[in-house]
Amino acid sequence: MAIPIKTAAEIETMRVAGRLASEVLDYIGDHVRAGITTSEIDRLCHDYMTGVQGTIPAPLNYAPPGYRPYPKSVCTSVNHVVCHGVPGEKKLKPGDIVNVDVTVIHQGYHGDSSRMYYVGEPTIQARRLCELTYECMWRGIRTVREGAQLGDIGHAIQSHAERNGFSVVREFCGHGIGKRFHEDPQVVHYGKPRTGLRLEAGMIFTIEPMINAGRADIRALADGWTIVTKDHSLSAQWEHTILVTPTGFEVLTVSAGTPPPPEPPR
Ligand code: MF3
Ligand code: CO
Ligand code: CO
Repeated sequence: MAIPIKTAAEIETMRVAGRLASEVLDYIGDHVRAGITTSEIDRLCHDYMTGVQGTIPAPLNYAPPGYRPYPKSVCTSVNHVVCHGVPGEKKLKPGDIVNVDVTVIHQGYHGDSSRMYYVGEPTIQARRLCELTYECMWRGIRTVREGAQLGDIGHAIQSHAERNGFSVVREFCGHGIGKRFHEDPQVVHYGKPRTGLRLEAGMIFTIEPMINAGRADIRALADGWTIVTKDHSLSAQWEHTILVTPTGFEVLTVSAGTPPPPEPPR
């Protein structure tokens, strides 16, 4: 299970792929409003990727072993949907929280990022969950450097989520990414410090914690893709694609509209 180390040329292409994925998220933000359907969001993103950017939406017809081909170009996960929400005809309504997850292919390389959006005013709990999940992602990112270990990332995320009364989804994880959408290593969002794979400069992977307001348990819907919380509690997720560097990390999924990192903890 050798972990790919990217060349300088591959890293440069992945920077562009990452920026392009993030620019789709910038573009769609203004459209995530009450009354729009998630299918319309999917169509807008699809047309922006293929028509404006000249990128390929990686999810469309993506079929990992054991899955039927994914039918849409992005994932839209609303409220108690944890991840892989398949866009459909339901209209968004005020108070909904929505994750849009975009993966583009640019010159054969993938960029993968997701953000949470509010439809109108979120409840206090929903806002807290989205903000806390964003902090969790960033606590994970901030542990990354050559010589750190995957368990350091997972521990930073899990400890912050659980001390705030939330739970971490176990069944889905971050992943290596490059020429392939999902490659080694698996980056789980829980764990113990100083355990697991040692990070090396030139590795590229995503960090994409899914955090639930209630219990961690999930189940899949009959469409074979959409994952929901078993207890129907709210779930949030954020995702960046990260390069390991000798002294730290570089976030590759950055664009003009990327939300700023949270204040570092003190
Ligand atoms: N973008 C998701 C991830 O972060 C994967 C979605 S798979 C799909 O790994 F087929 F549903 F798009
Ligand atoms: Co991903
Ligand atoms: Co993604």
